[in-house]
Amino acid sequence: MILLREKIDEVDTTGQSVRITPCSTETMAPYLNPLLMAAVVWVCLSAGAIAESTVEQQLQQLKDNYVEMQQLLAEKDRRLDALERENVKSKKTLEAQVTRLEAKTRRMEIEAIEQKSQLTALQQQNALRSGTRAEIATRQATTPIIPRSCANVQCNGNTVSGLYPIMGTSSVEMVFCDFTKATTDANFQRRIGYVDVKTAPVYFYVQKNNSFATAYVPIPFEVARVNIGGAMNLTSGTFTAPRAGTYFFSYTGDARFVGPSTNIMAVLVEMLLNGQRVGTARVTESNTSGSVHSQMSMQSTLTLKAGDRIWLQIGFMTAGGVAYVYDNPNADQRFNHFTGWLVEENFAGLF
Ligand SMILES: *[C@@H]1O[C@H](CO)[C@@H](O)[C@H](O)[C@H]1NC(C)=O
Ligand SMILES: *[C@@H]1O[C@H](CO)[C@@H](O)[C@H](O)[C@H]1NC(C)=O
Ligand SMILES: *[C@@H]1O[C@H](CO)[C@@H](O)[C@H](O)[C@H]1NC(C)=O
Repeated sequence: MILLREKIDEVDTTGQSVRITPCSTETMAPYLNPLLMAAVVWVCLSAGAIAESTVEQQLQQLKDNYVEMQQLLAEKDRRLDALERENVKSKKTLEAQVTRLEAKTRRMEIEAIEQKSQLTALQQQNALRSGTRAEIATRQATTPIIPRSCANVQCNGNTVSGLYPIMGTSSVEMVFCDFTKATTDANFQRRIGYVDVKTAPVYFYVQKNNSFATAYVPIPFEVARVNIGGAMNLTSGTFTAPRAGTYFFSYTGDARFVGPSTNIMAVLVEMLLNGQRVGTARVTESNTSGSVHSQMSMQSTLTLKAGDRIWLQIGFMTAGGVAYVYDNPNADQRFNHFTGWLVEENFAGLF
């Protein structure tokens, strides 16, 4: 209270600052008249009461303030906590957003790359299409490649979508080239099928004009109806595959048995591939009253390498000249037929 009183300064009516003397009667009494003293005492008492009440109020105020401050601080803490939680949530949300954005960016980058390559392809197509027919023809002439794809077809100067033959792995293939699409598009090139093309035609059909009765040697043929490609050597009776590929062969022959005989008689004609038996045609007769003829027949489809040899030979015939391969010189009678052709050529490694 003294501390407070010492600090109180009051301003008089003249505006001059007057120091309120501390209320100490012992020190003040000798210098003051009674009236003044009474006034001073009153003032002091009043001032003391006022000061006391103000201090309590102020204390209360301070307490209140303190409580309020505490509440505010607590509130602030709560808000900070809430903000913290909010922050964590926001951080997670932001991280998720960043991840999504990164993924989106990557997708867009990929799309951009794809679009760029499509654009390049289109520009290339446009470049190929540009110019006069003569210029296109010149380009084609200066880049003479065997096309193995629609892209190659295009590089050769072709600009019109359509069916084109291209070189496949073992055969020429027919593809549909859609030049309105990018080279990367799955439908830029669509396979239609293979093209039945051969480096040379191979067909033969030979006949005999006389009988043959020698076993284990190639049966020769005398008459050639067709021998396109010259792969069949009639004299040696041997067919030599000019190209790798799949071939078809057929033999139909006449076996003659001379009777009468009570024995079983037989004729076997074999087809050989480089000396290895492919198959056999066999006929037998038994207890014949006279001469009889039977038909032998054999077909085969074989995949051959270039240079492989095929021939027919008698693999067995009853001894004594009673069983053999029969034919006669009459122009209009042919009983032995050997025919063959190249079905499909294998182009692997040729081009
Ligand atoms: C056909 O075969 C005969 C007998 O082996 C041979 O003398 C002839 O040169 C061959 N002909 C051809 C065109 O190879
Ligand atoms: C063979 O033919 C003769 C005359 O036709 C006949 O008598 C005989 O029984 C036949 N033998 C056999 C094994 O069929
Ligand atoms: C069979 O045909 C060959 C070749 O055409 C001919 O030279 C030969 O005279 C013929 N043989 C017979 C028996 O007709």
